Amino acid sequence: MFEHIERLREELEKAAAQSQDELEKFRMRFISRKSVIGDLFGEFKNVPNEQKKEFGAALNNLKNLAETKFQELVNDLKSREQSSDAASIDMFLPPVKQTGTIHPLNKVKNRIIQIFERQGFNVEEGPEIEDDFHNFTALNFPENHPAREMQDTYFISKDPDVLLRTHTSNVQIRLLEKQQPPVRAIMPGRVYRNEAISARAHCFFHQVEGLYVDRNVSFKDLKQTLYHFARELFGKDTKIRLRPSFFPFTEPSAEIDISCFICKGKGCKICKHTGWVEIGGSGMVDPNVLESVNVDPKEYSGFAFGMGIERIAMLKYQIDDIRLFSENDLRFLQQFKGT
Ligand code: PHE
Repeated sequence: MFEHIERLREELEKAAAQSQDELEKFRMRFISRKSVIGDLFGEFKNVPNEQKKEFGAALNNLKNLAETKFQELVNDLKSREQSSDAASIDMFLPPVKQTGTIHPLNKVKNRIIQIFERQGFNVEEGPEIEDDFHNFTALNFPENHPAREMQDTYFISKDPDVLLRTHTSNVQIRLLEKQQPPVRAIMPGRVYRNEAISARAHCFFHQVEGLYVDRNVSFKDLKQTLYHFARELFGKDTKIRLRPSFFPFTEPSAEIDISCFICKGKGCKICKHTGWVEIGGSGMVDPNVLESVNVDPKEYSGFAFGMGIERIAMLKYQIDDIRLFSENDLRFLQQFKGT
């Protein structure tokens, strides 16, 4: 009898469980009511009285040992399973299939940023939800002037006016408020206008604003900067043309045209047979704008420009419907894989 207990003790000590099955076998053999230990308790009544005490103690020890061992096996198995889960995640496996692609608007935006960063421009951003001051007043839009209607504004609330910015020019003001010249930055972002959605117009689109304010900045600097940009983005034969225009915040103001890179200026459908395509607006920062942010216009001058990212992407990739950019049609998006 005691020998039997001793053999079971040895067996218990050596026991291991590599799987839930083996663990269950252990439980059946040593823990359950029908276990070998349970059977031994059943034998208790047959043990001679003078050995009962010793037998009882040995049996209780065995039972405790079985329970401790069982708990150990449970814990072991659990931690082994966890670590093999972790080991089965191989962080270095290449993806099965490349799923995402960079959106064409981001591609164009990144390229524009790269071209300007190489000329010493920083990237800045500003809020899409804006107040009247930063979107209009500080940019020299007179109160109740029709120029405010030029940009059909979405208002969030009136008095005080809160609106969705109609252009990225608000960031010119935000930047000059926090940083005195010299300032040289480009500011990409989304803008909103209450326009009927069509192949050519959308109620939201993207712009890149540019601003350079320092001592002795002249129109020549503006022209050279835009010329360099156009040649980098559209090819080195590209020409630019600055066409007189009007913006409240620049004086003089000019539309930026580039020579049509499809027909090289000969005239085609893309340029509507003019040889030129428009990509944005520009001009010398109006002295009133500098004053509104406490920059002395006698000491500093600057140029600014704003270009449409959709417009540039449509030209570059010959896309004829602006709605494609926001429809998330995979057949469209996947064409920009790796380009
Ligand atoms: N904010 C103007 C627009 O949205 C573009 C512009 C920017 C023009 C900077 C001049 C200077 O049409």
